[in-house]
Amino acid sequence: MTTVTHLISSTPTLARDIDGKAISAQVLDEVREEVLALAGQQIFPALAVLLVGDDPASHVYVRNKLLRAKEVGIRSLEYRLPDDASQAQVLEQIAQLNADASVNGILVQLPLPGHIDEAAVIHAIDPIKDVDGFHRENVGGLVQGMEVLTPCTPSGCMRLLKETCGDISGLHAVVIGRSNIVGKPMATLLLQAHCSVSVVHSRSVDAPALCRLADIVVAAVGRPHLIDASWLKPGAVVIDVGINRVTDESGSHLVGDVDYASARTVARAITPVPGGVGPMTIAYLLKNTLIAAKLQRAVKAREPDPDGCDSDIN
Ligand code: GUN
Repeated sequence: MTTVTHLISSTPTLARDIDGKAISAQVLDEVREEVLALAGQQIFPALAVLLVGDDPASHVYVRNKLLRAKEVGIRSLEYRLPDDASQAQVLEQIAQLNADASVNGILVQLPLPGHIDEAAVIHAIDPIKDVDGFHRENVGGLVQGMEVLTPCTPSGCMRLLKETCGDISGLHAVVIGRSNIVGKPMATLLLQAHCSVSVVHSRSVDAPALCRLADIVVAAVGRPHLIDASWLKPGAVVIDVGINRVTDESGSHLVGDVDYASARTVARAITPVPGGVGPMTIAYLLKNTLIAAKLQRAVKAREPDPDGCDSDIN
């Protein structure tokens, strides 16, 4: 009996991995199917990606986005401007893409070079083509529960939670980080899914204690290995949005905001890094491109016929 107790306590059950690669492949299949259906209606969704400057990580992200778009049959257009491009040049490029009816989605890869006003650029994008969901019109719409374009990473995290937990209504979710790109929209989506939501950030008093109250933890702070087992309630579900490059004795590699090896001894399920949230972001970018194309079709259908052929008089 003593031996059995010892065995049980010394072999903790490890959390199961939430497989972002497999779930994102399902999402991409859904997108592919819908692209085919839209082609039958003579709608051919197109995504324009604008990259300003030479940030190596941004180049990799953009290449992956364009590659995935091609794989699901979405037309993609890549625009590049040099590191010293002026704000006027960036805004002019966006104006052209806004005016081009064959372009359904516009994404400006962030970060932008320091001399460019990021907010001005984001708000220059036509909200109905804002596949990042960063425009204030989409942010406000999201908070009010309207059908708008919603930031891709939080949407991807919600899908991971749905696939892992089913209904999350009534659960306590703690979001660590309050960025416009992830933390704030994530908290809003969790609230819409009827969770009780806390947002923990750099000024929070005793962040680990707050986090230990959570059934669901979403970490998005950009601090490698900040969250370990001591932050977690046993059985918590952990979504790690962090992608941090670290260099140690074994070389350079990517790690999350969560100390995976430690957290999985306490959590019920956890996203690995890489292979967790990362692939979901691109999948939801492509889903958003389809949503944008459909929203634009609906708007066009409501516009009066320019030839007046649908008027009662004719
Ligand atoms: N850079 C890092 N993440 C993102 C994102 O979600 N969208 C854009 N446009 N740039 C990013």
